[in-house]
Amino acid sequence: MRRLEAVATPERPLAELVKLRSSGQPLQYLEGTAAFGPLTLAVDHRVLIPRPETEYLAALLVRRHSHPRLVVDLCTGSGAVALFLKSVWPQSRVVATDFSADALAVARQNGHQLRLDVEWYSGDLFGALPGELRAKADLLVANPPYVSVSEWDLLPVDVRHEPRSALVAGPIGTEIIDRILAGVGDWLVPGGEAWIEIGETQALELRERHRVEIYQDQYGKDRFARMKHD
Ligand SMILES: C[S@@+](CC[C@H](N)C(=O)[O-])C[C@H]1O[C@@H](n2cnc3c(N)ncnc32)[C@H](O)[C@@H]1O
Repeated sequence: MRRLEAVATPERPLAELVKLRSSGQPLQYLEGTAAFGPLTLAVDHRVLIPRPETEYLAALLVRRHSHPRLVVDLCTGSGAVALFLKSVWPQSRVVATDFSADALAVARQNGHQLRLDVEWYSGDLFGALPGELRAKADLLVANPPYVSVSEWDLLPVDVRHEPRSALVAGPIGTEIIDRILAGVGDWLVPGGEAWIEIGETQALELRERHRVEIYQDQYGKDRFARMKHD
């Protein structure tokens, strides 16, 4: 309640905010911001609210890598991962993509606000990337949609206030992860790595279809697939 009090205005009084919150509007949308590590990001209904598991992945990448020359963040949403990595590795070239023009507008605004020089490209997965980046990425990271169509209805009401296109991948759930893992070899340097956030029940099937290693999140769940390019 205190947090809502802090963002109430005469145009948007506390009673209205409480009503919206009761109907499932995420607190971060009502506040207009979300924390991601040390960064405060603007968020609204156009983008997924960045999750602690994704923050854990970003921190894990920072421990395992040092100033990669080229970092690619596919499915960037609010820009959380790209901006976090750029803040830690100012000398790296960081490129981020999303197919939602609305999401990219939020990401761009966050980059501008935080004075972090990330390059933003719009388009479908790798199709958004400039061709000159082919075989150049040292590190590729993605938190793509990985919920199946039938799971959507079962998600908590708060989550269903977030963009459906940020969460639902297709009838199976792994459609976008599969496309990324199938295509990423064309974009990585030899020895480069891709790290993809996955749903907690998807590790087994992804291991059957792709040459990936699975890593756990802070809660011990199988949540990240790593593919190394030979
Ligand atoms: C789960 S959200 C992740 C956002 C952000 N990376 C994060 O972790 O907070 C997935 C994002 O992927 C984008 N997306 C979905 N399908 C896509 C596609 N085929 N190509 C590019 N972006 C896509 C959505 O617009 C959404 O912003």
